[in-house]
Amino acid sequence: MKALTAILSFLLLAALAAAQPSPLITNLPGRTSTSLDGAWHIIVDPYESGLRARYYENAKPQDARTSPIEYDFAASETLKVPGDWNSQKERLFFYEGPVWYQRSFSFKARDHARQFVYFGAANYYTRVYLNGKPLGEHEGGFTPFNFEVTGKLVEGENSLVAEVNNARRANGVPASNTDWWNYGGLTRDVSLIEVPDTFVRDYSFQLAKGSPGEVAGWVQLDGSAQTQPVTIEIPDAGVRKTVTPDATGRVDFRLPTKLTLWTPDDPKLYDVVISTGTDKLHDSIGFRTVEVQGTQLLLNGKPIFLRGISMHEEAPNRGGRAYSPDDAQTLLGWAKELGCNFVRLTHYPHNENAIRLADRMGLLVWSEIPVYWDIAWKDPETLANAEAQLRDMIARDRNRAAVIFWSLSNETPVSPERTIFLQKLAADARQLDSTRLITSALNHVTDAGPEKRVLDDPLGESLDVLGLNEYLGWYFGHPEDADRWQWESKYAKPIIVSEFGADALYGKHGDASARWTEEYQANLYVHQLGMVAKIPGLAGLSPWVLMDFHSPRRPLPGIQDYYNRKGLVSNLGQHKPAFYVLQKFYKEMNEKKAAAAQ
Ligand code: GCU
Repeated sequence: MKALTAILSFLLLAALAAAQPSPLITNLPGRTSTSLDGAWHIIVDPYESGLRARYYENAKPQDARTSPIEYDFAASETLKVPGDWNSQKERLFFYEGPVWYQRSFSFKARDHARQFVYFGAANYYTRVYLNGKPLGEHEGGFTPFNFEVTGKLVEGENSLVAEVNNARRANGVPASNTDWWNYGGLTRDVSLIEVPDTFVRDYSFQLAKGSPGEVAGWVQLDGSAQTQPVTIEIPDAGVRKTVTPDATGRVDFRLPTKLTLWTPDDPKLYDVVISTGTDKLHDSIGFRTVEVQGTQLLLNGKPIFLRGISMHEEAPNRGGRAYSPDDAQTLLGWAKELGCNFVRLTHYPHNENAIRLADRMGLLVWSEIPVYWDIAWKDPETLANAEAQLRDMIARDRNRAAVIFWSLSNETPVSPERTIFLQKLAADARQLDSTRLITSALNHVTDAGPEKRVLDDPLGESLDVLGLNEYLGWYFGHPEDADRWQWESKYAKPIIVSEFGADALYGKHGDASARWTEEYQANLYVHQLGMVAKIPGLAGLSPWVLMDFHSPRRPLPGIQDYYNRKGLVSNLGQHKPAFYVLQKFYKEMNEKKAAAAQ
């Protein structure tokens, strides 16, 4: 009988724990919040004993009654949050599995207020508990999630526990095979958000599609009084309008106004204020249009060429998952130094600090969900997971002018179930945000002669812009072959060469045909840039990759040492000659553009 009750209570708890996060609250920087960052106690739990032993209760060994308590957070080691565990503790560098995090915090209740615990991201599968009770679970390592804790917090000391498990899953997104390090943990900020009973949970402000003289958008209230009037203001543009939401708390609006448009050269951001009787929120928003005309990309109605670079969210110098404004400043600073007006953030949504900095720096952004290489295309849970990551990526960044592309995937092998899966995501993305362009990084090409390839991936039909990944001169052929090779597309749509590159160890020298040397990489860039410039419909580039990054697939001793060395800068920020080859190419391109505009 006792065993049966134990199993039943365990199953009940598992069911309760499976609760999903509450609808995402956007614009964390604009909210009243208490940071829960800092040192959290941890228990590394390779056998996940903590579920049955109920680590989430944060019990004290001295409280043991019937059976001994064999854990003690207070006496356990700590990890810094935000931050992955792999780069913080040498012995956890290769660790994949569950780690339990616990921290206590004090709370003082306020009338007419609601509280949410907000995670910027946690890789990969997370169970969250407050004061020993489950709040819910979240799958996916790169998008934010929040749980409402109103009425669950106690006056004084509260205990928050998160079990974070970065074990790879065959039906996960990504699946089990990636060319980046599977950094685990509470990798981004954790906050306690406090909002009024009824608050502005989400909103969208964009130039109306096809009529740039109007701002079109919506506001979503959340709470008991969600039909109260909402006032929208853009003070610097003399805009002020009060609108009334419907019974679901949603109100759509259109605001005729004349705005200075956001461009990479002049990334103008406006203070936008959304207020109700009880809530008031500021956000910095830029306004621009982005569209496709034939094979051209138009920003604010004018053709634009994307001078870009691809990059991972890896911290320069210290290594590990990047998360801070300083990390973003260093990485995007190098992109600016290259002469970029565009960054491809791969292969997962990067942190909000980086996106908001791109907004301020004037860097256009390609943002991608980790549908990477082969995944479980037939598994409905995998589709639901990918759809949720797409939804949350768009929800968090839909008001960032810098973001112009939602990328659905990278180098996925063509098959009917794969294409149906991605076409579903394309439809979702268009439904969630009709103002941006949908793309994917493709590498399915057909031979059209010995040195000619045609991009004819069936997914191209469903995309606005096509990304082409090609590694001529590294994974096949020689750098010089690029002088003769031709690439074309089956589709009359803009093409972005989203990846090309070669590994080079900083400081390793040799002649231009010696692989792994700086000279080989620089030489490859010279020939590649000549080749891609001839591709019909080319609208941009994002070579692979800004900085060397950790990868479990790259063990070559003395050269890779678990780094992918295709960076134009090393993981310590040392610039390789190829950096200057690309910088020169972009400078000349920019000068030619300026001369043509004269
Ligand atoms: C692939 C892939 C990258 C990878 C790169 C490489 O194309 O998209 O994630 O790191 O090539 O092989 O270096």
